[in-house]
Amino acid sequence: MIRKARVGDLEGLLRLYDQLRSGVSLIRRAPTRPDAVHQEALKKLMADKSVHVLVYQSGKKIVGTCTAYILPRLYRGRPLGVLDTIVVDSDSRGHGVGRKLIEEAAQICRKAGCGQVNLTSNTQRVRAHRFYESLGFEPTYIGFRRALQ
Ligand SMILES: CC(C)(COP(=O)(O)OP(=O)(O)OC[C@H]1O[C@@H](n2cnc3c(N)ncnc32)[C@H](O)[C@@H]1OP(=O)(O)O)[C@@H](O)C(=O)NCCC(=O)NCCS
Repeated sequence: MIRKARVGDLEGLLRLYDQLRSGVSLIRRAPTRPDAVHQEALKKLMADKSVHVLVYQSGKKIVGTCTAYILPRLYRGRPLGVLDTIVVDSDSRGHGVGRKLIEEAAQICRKAGCGQVNLTSNTQRVRAHRFYESLGFEPTYIGFRRALQ
């Protein structure tokens, strides 16, 4: 079942985000513990009508997540859909969970008037790139990042 995230999903979301982070890092870190900052951030995201934090629930467990952002734009007069933090639990991969989350997120963006959805992916995530291409995404852009102090 795919639904929007609730406050009670915080721990499950952080567990998945830890898996996302460890996928490109050789450094093993302790699991992220939910704190007041995370709680506040999730509440803020939930209250924002242009943000959709989706979770895939299987039984009582959150086994996947994807967040869709609807960005208002003057260019072409249509908003842009941006997908972020896409991850499926390591035990649940290869069963269509990721595909269903992406399709649901794309449908939300479509309904919001977006003409396209973009996402960025670390250059090292070659398997994820194949996953995106199998879902119709084209590797069109180069992403740039600058850390802010
Ligand atoms: C990438 C990820 C989200 C895919 O989720 P998933 O649930 O395993 O993928 P699905 O089972 O829904 O696969 C959907 C389609 O993509 C294809 N696919 C999935 N992984 C693939 C891979 N590694 N190589 C080629 N194709 C792949 C499947 O064949 C499937 O096609 P089908 O529907 O025609 O059978 C998941 O593997 C994951 O969380 N990886 C680690 C975190 C990560 O890299 N996230 C992306 C950050 S940018």
